[in-house]
Amino acid sequence: MSVMQSPAAQQAERAVVIDGKAFAEGLRERIVVKAREFRELVGKAPGLAVVLVGDDPASQVYVRTKMNKAMDTGIESFPFLLPASTSQTELLALIERLNEDRHVHGILVQLPLPAHIDEVAVIAAIDPAKDVDGFHPINVGQLGLGTASLVPCTPLGCLMMLKHHLGDLSGLKAVVVGRSNIVGKPMANLLLQQNCTVTVLHSRSRNLEDECRQADILVLAIGRPNMIGPESIKPGAVVIDVGINRIIREDGSSALVGDADTEAVSAVAGAITPVPGGVGPMTVACLMRNTLVAACAIEGIAPPSL
Ligand code: GUN
Repeated sequence: MSVMQSPAAQQAERAVVIDGKAFAEGLRERIVVKAREFRELVGKAPGLAVVLVGDDPASQVYVRTKMNKAMDTGIESFPFLLPASTSQTELLALIERLNEDRHVHGILVQLPLPAHIDEVAVIAAIDPAKDVDGFHPINVGQLGLGTASLVPCTPLGCLMMLKHHLGDLSGLKAVVVGRSNIVGKPMANLLLQQNCTVTVLHSRSRNLEDECRQADILVLAIGRPNMIGPESIKPGAVVIDVGINRIIREDGSSALVGDADTEAVSAVAGAITPVPGGVGPMTVACLMRNTLVAACAIEGIAPPSL
């Protein structure tokens, strides 16, 4: 005889939704207080320069969100919205100016850049002390050594949510799907620092499903809508979905979805971040955190505890 569960019991078994939006708002409120103290001590606000080259619609949305959140947080933002025809020489000259500007504590160049600009050269030109993305080779190296203070925002936000949800991560098996410089690689490094056993999977990996099913922590940064289903999930695993993919439904409407099939995965996972409202807001809050951290270091103030 099969035992039928009540709808309430079935509901109780579904994954906890990790509310990145609420978590980010809590972090932002703590930064507001610290940014006010900074202003009172230094006589100016922490300053963030945001550079966008070209008219990629998604990048325009991200940059606008970052500038609005900076303003709401008591961080002064300096926007530089440049045409796609901007030359590499012009961009490097702007970065040189921002490196010297005493009102600018953080410099963010939104990626991707147009194809005629060498991304590596541009990132290398940013003063590492103002590199609030944590992409400069010096900051990447320090992350590898475990000594970085400016860590890429998206993986930092993921780690904060994981620690909040799970506490000590020591000894847990973490699988990161995706090996980008922005998410996958720094995420793997951060998890290693937390004493996780870390596997990084990518487009050439074999047995992706079996590897994912070993994970206590599964971080998805692939960029393919609904790619990961319940068959890839260990029961009770915590799933952090970094994917933000726009899809067009059959009825012509559009929607943002993650790399996981959230609905189906929620029947197996212990917890999952939603898309939207999971990782995205944490990325922006961590940018504010990094700007304040950079500003304190540059102005010779003790780092804020957040
Ligand atoms: N493009 C996508 N994610 C990011 C990010 O975190 N920082 C920058 N600068 N560009 C991005």
